[in-house]
Amino acid sequence: MSNTAPWWRSAVIYQVYIRSFADGNDDGVGDIAGIRSRLPYLKSLGVDAIWINPWYKSPMADHGYDVADYRAIDPLFGTLAEAEQLIEEAHRHGIRVIPDIVPNHTSDQHAWFQAALAAGTGTPERDRYIFRPGRGPDGTEPPNDWLSVFGGPAWTRLPDGEWYLHLFAPEQPDLNWQHPEVRAEFESVLRFWFSRGVDGFRIDVAHGLVKHPELPDLPPRRDPEDEGPRQHVEHPHWDRDEVHDIFRAWRKVADEFPGDRTFVAEAWADSPERLAAYVRQDGLHTAFNFDFLMASWDPKDLRAVIDDSLAMLGAVGAPATWVLSNHDVVRHPSRYGRKTTKRWVANEPYRPEGPLDLELGTRRARSAALLMLALPGGAYIYQGEELGLPEVEDLPETALQDPIWERSGHTDRGRDGCRVPIPWSGPAAPFGFSPDGTSAAPWLPQPADWGERSVEAQTGDETSMLELYRSALHLRREHPALGDGSLTWLDAPTGVLAFSRGQGFACVVNLSAEPCPLPDHTSVLLSSGPVEGGLLAPDHAVWLAV
Ligand code: NOJ
Repeated sequence: MSNTAPWWRSAVIYQVYIRSFADGNDDGVGDIAGIRSRLPYLKSLGVDAIWINPWYKSPMADHGYDVADYRAIDPLFGTLAEAEQLIEEAHRHGIRVIPDIVPNHTSDQHAWFQAALAAGTGTPERDRYIFRPGRGPDGTEPPNDWLSVFGGPAWTRLPDGEWYLHLFAPEQPDLNWQHPEVRAEFESVLRFWFSRGVDGFRIDVAHGLVKHPELPDLPPRRDPEDEGPRQHVEHPHWDRDEVHDIFRAWRKVADEFPGDRTFVAEAWADSPERLAAYVRQDGLHTAFNFDFLMASWDPKDLRAVIDDSLAMLGAVGAPATWVLSNHDVVRHPSRYGRKTTKRWVANEPYRPEGPLDLELGTRRARSAALLMLALPGGAYIYQGEELGLPEVEDLPETALQDPIWERSGHTDRGRDGCRVPIPWSGPAAPFGFSPDGTSAAPWLPQPADWGERSVEAQTGDETSMLELYRSALHLRREHPALGDGSLTWLDAPTGVLAFSRGQGFACVVNLSAEPCPLPDHTSVLLSSGPVEGGLLAPDHAVWLAV
């Protein structure tokens, strides 16, 4: 990578799900004080930046993705002064800070929505959101057939008879991005935080902001069993072309500030081609590559995703980003530890198929980490992934908090299983998540055996997931071939992915059922498990000096 390339082209960004990272004030919920206390850990792990899930003032109907005030920190997490201190201290540790911004919807407690409710039908206050009369003789049917991502209809009726749109929970009314005040307000919010030193933003639901002006019904649904090529079908509220105008304006705002400020889009697109449209030169910088996350542990599937992503993003001059887990999906050791090789589909209820072989899932997760961190571009690590945490699949129903649980009529347990507070130290809950002698239990219960997985337990154990991530991240920083750039596939036996990166580096991942011979090399830089007799065992990966 050239030394002058902007940092975000090759950055490893660590996702801090603030509620569950570290609790500094003893209330069982993570906060800014907790993040500040763990900056030395993040520095020693070797990440370049942190993305922090929403920390703004919020009634927490969707754990902060329902924002009541974009310029204030929620008291549960701290204060604006603490956020400013965190940004400054992180920078001193050489770590950049990327908060989340939530532009698709506000909280129903946001001043604008409260004003819209108070002002009544047909008032300009309602134009900032999407209010409509209902269908049917008395307007008792929703305006169209759109569905909430969290289950049920995407419309809620008010006592005055009008309906409002919410693609997520009813507490998250969708904004009207055709309204100039909405556009101006968000540009002002970006400047508010950029001038406080943040290095960029993760953009929530970037693909959802613009709706078809006539709000037509949904197109027919594609058969999930259809394996044929995916063709883009215009959708009335997802991934509409007009959304890019908004981001061209945001790019200009970022460029007003010094120091390579950056955006990463959460954009679910039909194809790498559609995704690439978000990251053109005058648009956003990067976008999460969810195709990689959704691929099964299958060499053909993974290779196709890697090739398509690099081709499409490369064509518009953007780096790829690679991501295995986040706060919305099942943790990957639990995905990879099941027999099925079916793609795991986003926004589908999580129904694990078959028994979990966590040893297998963990072995594959170790290899996936080496694969991800060797690929060209940037990568995201979801907190706890470096500890090998599995999905917590047996949370008691009484503990579940994700709105999906209620909205689905208790048919979908939702995303709490990947959000359990992470273990830092000690043999018993809260495993150092909250200060010693804490009175409040962690907001979700931690499994009793998570002491074995704590940062303390894994530190110094060469066979641990944590030390594998540390070594990989440190090597990645030092090795000139890694990060931004391109890859060359090497000849390899069926079921084996092998590629070189520039001069002197190769990565081999064995997804076949047989041990595979390694290509010529001068040394093994890092491996997910023992390499014996020049053979790499199934489900293992290795980095080689060649
Ligand atoms: C995507 C976020 O990642 C998810 O956690 C949230 O529930 C929705 N957007 C709605 O904001």
